[in-house]
Amino acid sequence: MSLLIKNAIIVNADGEAKGSKDILLEKGVIARIASSIPSENFKVVDVEGKKVLPGLVDLHAHFREPGREDKETIETGSRAAAKGGFTTVMCMPNTSPVIDNAMMVDAIFQKVRRAGLINVIPIGAITKGQQDQELVDMFEMKKAGCLALSDDGKSVNSSQMMRLAFEYAKMVDILLIEHCQDPDLSAGGVMNEGYHSTLLGMKGDPGLSEIVIVARDIELAKYLDTRVHLAHISLKRSVELIRQAKAQGVKVTAEVCPHHFSLTEEIVKSFDPNAKVNPPLRTQEDVDAVKKGLKDGTLDCIATDHAPHTQEDKEVGFGDAPFGMIGLETAFGLGVSELVDKKVLSLPQLVEKMSAAPAKIVGLEAKGVVAEGFDADLVVVDVEREWEVKAEDFVSKSKNSPFIGKALKGCVEKTICGGKIVYESK
Ligand code: DOR
Repeated sequence: MSLLIKNAIIVNADGEAKGSKDILLEKGVIARIASSIPSENFKVVDVEGKKVLPGLVDLHAHFREPGREDKETIETGSRAAAKGGFTTVMCMPNTSPVIDNAMMVDAIFQKVRRAGLINVIPIGAITKGQQDQELVDMFEMKKAGCLALSDDGKSVNSSQMMRLAFEYAKMVDILLIEHCQDPDLSAGGVMNEGYHSTLLGMKGDPGLSEIVIVARDIELAKYLDTRVHLAHISLKRSVELIRQAKAQGVKVTAEVCPHHFSLTEEIVKSFDPNAKVNPPLRTQEDVDAVKKGLKDGTLDCIATDHAPHTQEDKEVGFGDAPFGMIGLETAFGLGVSELVDKKVLSLPQLVEKMSAAPAKIVGLEAKGVVAEGFDADLVVVDVEREWEVKAEDFVSKSKNSPFIGKALKGCVEKTICGGKIVYESK
């Protein structure tokens, strides 16, 4: 059925439209945008001058299916995404078993269709079982519908394996996403290495671990003249390396997570296991640098690294807890509160980082823009509305967020995917 959205202030990456518009959604696409479209017999939603953005796109989430459905499933993850304003989410392959063959990709797509909520696109592994020994069949993975491959959760540790991966990926034309963390340098680390890890008596994970893989992959991409996307960049030095590489024309893109622009390592003093994440929370200098990187375009997009874990798994000593925090339901609020409100980015620039740019990076050409002919994926937001993050309000199966109790500004009111309302706030 067609859906008519009335009185929308459209905000795209290139700016906010003057005056309100009506948007007609038909057969999954934006059929018409005009100052006034007669209601006829369409289903009508009057958004009364609220801002309407292209549906958010997340290049990095962990839905734990198959293997840990007690933490998250495709369906519950999709619900959390819809509540967060996301209409497309790419889910990482570090499931059990690892998503490293076309049959598994098919199975994920089947679950996505059954959930019938948002677009979830599985990211396949780079190496079989994420074991660093043998490459997956990249051609087969692409044919099955993967837009990108990653061994996320860990780096591709062998430089020779990564070189081969880049060579094949270039031939197949599929994006590789690197989790930048040298396993030897990081071994045993549970938080950022530095003053605070020493003070707390915790084993540190040095920034150097991220830096050496960022530098290695930039050099490989440059040498092989191919593209690479660097996941969850957390350090000032990484931002500098990416900035330099871009200036030299290297085909590198990079993402930053909301927690890395909102929190510092100091929160670990609380011993909240929900603040344990990979890469670890860093220093204020790093937070300032990633914000600057977002502002000047060095960091292309914002990705959540939504990493659900059960309370049982997290409620152990900080050192023993698994790495990760959920992020889909707080990402937009953190973007507005930490970036737009603090004048790091304008709202259109936030739209660029959370929708247009990620869509472009993976080649989703019909997404990331509110315009006629584009997919009918939209999010209606109230950027002024304040809300408190509460554990009981999360629709994700897991509640592991260090932001519980925090007041955020910027609220998702409705999410529309493929022309269908998939989330409405109370
Ligand atoms: O904190 C993290 N958790 N970082 C990752 O890279 C993986 C993720 C997970 O799968 O739990």
